[in-house]
Amino acid sequence: MSKRALITGITGQDGSYLAELLLSKGYEVHGLVRRSSSFNTQRIDHLYQDPHEPNARIFLHYGDLSDGARLVTLLSQIDPDEVYNLAAQSHVRVSFDEPEHTGDTTGIGSIRLLEAVRVAGVRCRFYQASSSEMFGASPPPQDEDTLFYPRSPYGAAKVYSYWVTRNYREAYGLFAVNGILFNHESPRRGETFVTRKITRAVARIRAGREKLLYMGNLDAVRDWGYAPEYVEGMWRMLQADEPKDYVLATSTPCTVRQFLQTAFDHAGLDWEKHVRFDDRYLRPTEVDSLIGDAGRAEADLGWKATVHAPELARIMVDADIDALECEGRPWIDRPSLSAWA
Ligand code: NAP
Ligand code: GDD
Repeated sequence: MSKRALITGITGQDGSYLAELLLSKGYEVHGLVRRSSSFNTQRIDHLYQDPHEPNARIFLHYGDLSDGARLVTLLSQIDPDEVYNLAAQSHVRVSFDEPEHTGDTTGIGSIRLLEAVRVAGVRCRFYQASSSEMFGASPPPQDEDTLFYPRSPYGAAKVYSYWVTRNYREAYGLFAVNGILFNHESPRRGETFVTRKITRAVARIRAGREKLLYMGNLDAVRDWGYAPEYVEGMWRMLQADEPKDYVLATSTPCTVRQFLQTAFDHAGLDWEKHVRFDDRYLRPTEVDSLIGDAGRAEADLGWKATVHAPELARIMVDADIDALECEGRPWIDRPSLSAWA
């Protein structure tokens, strides 16, 4: 019998890579998809299978983390072996604009899903997408024992989700774990996160479609890894003998400025000629430096990141150049200057 997994956030960057990974391992994959007036499934369209086919192994279900009753119904119907809670309003800057919605989705949404697991009586393993943003102002290096000091409504909501996940492990004996993941990126990264905003702009400037890129704080330090490697870490956490929380990170610091320079250099462009400052991209409170220590994941799970920021920047620039040269994909033609965050 193949295992069954439910992924919330399957249409996002990580959800799409995780769905690929689980399908390659023979899982039956179920994904929660928000109803939208236009299709929001571009990242998983290549995985689509007609549910009428007897051998279909991926199934999509309408639902939303704000709708607890729907979650109970789905959990009862699907009866999954593993649940990956990846859904969230995941943009830190936007969480200052929409703090209440972020709290409802990124925070309370997690306990709605945990309650659905409990109420439906499903015996599954549960993964919570926790974040290095929870460390916020705590100085690096950060590991599983570092104090949380969130600096945004998003970070605070993730701290809430972290603790309720631990509480359901302790209170109800649920195999529930937090993956505390540092930033991880890919060609599928949302276009308003800084790495993708940069690599899309590089491709467009190189093609002569734009001239300038407006940016915020270039001094922030992040620990950027490659998303496909991180979803492998999520899966390994749920295969472990014991439920434990793990940091996943590369341990390699990189400033936004260094990422910019590598990306522009790779396309043969001088970043200083094209980058301008705009304070709309600053946050009311910034997280200055995130550098993770993933020693526990390496020791227990045999997980180690191999792709670091410079290689990542080159992978993403190459992918955005290729995508721009692709015909018939109208969404690619959105100007990067209209990025909202
Ligand atoms: P992402 O690309 O922004 O994807 C977020 C997903 O959540 C999308 O599928 C989105 O659906 C869905 N979603 C949002 N609100 C929802 C709601 N109310 N109900 C149901 N689904 C909802 O994020 P990601 O980069 O893949 O990250 C995955 C998870 O890991 C997130 O929880 C994020 O906060 C966390 N995380 C990410 C990183 C990172 O560096 N990427 C690091 C640490 C933690 P639509 O497609 O319809 O918008
Ligand atoms: N988005 C954006 N846009 N960020 C900018 C810009 C800009 O124009 N200019 C500078 N930055 C800086 C931000 O101030 C921040 O310090 C850094 O670039 C990274 O910003 P993001 O790419 O938006 O990511 P994040 O670190 O705030 O949050 C991401 O990583 C978290 C894990 O640490 C998200 O994926 C979160 O969901 C995730 O939890």
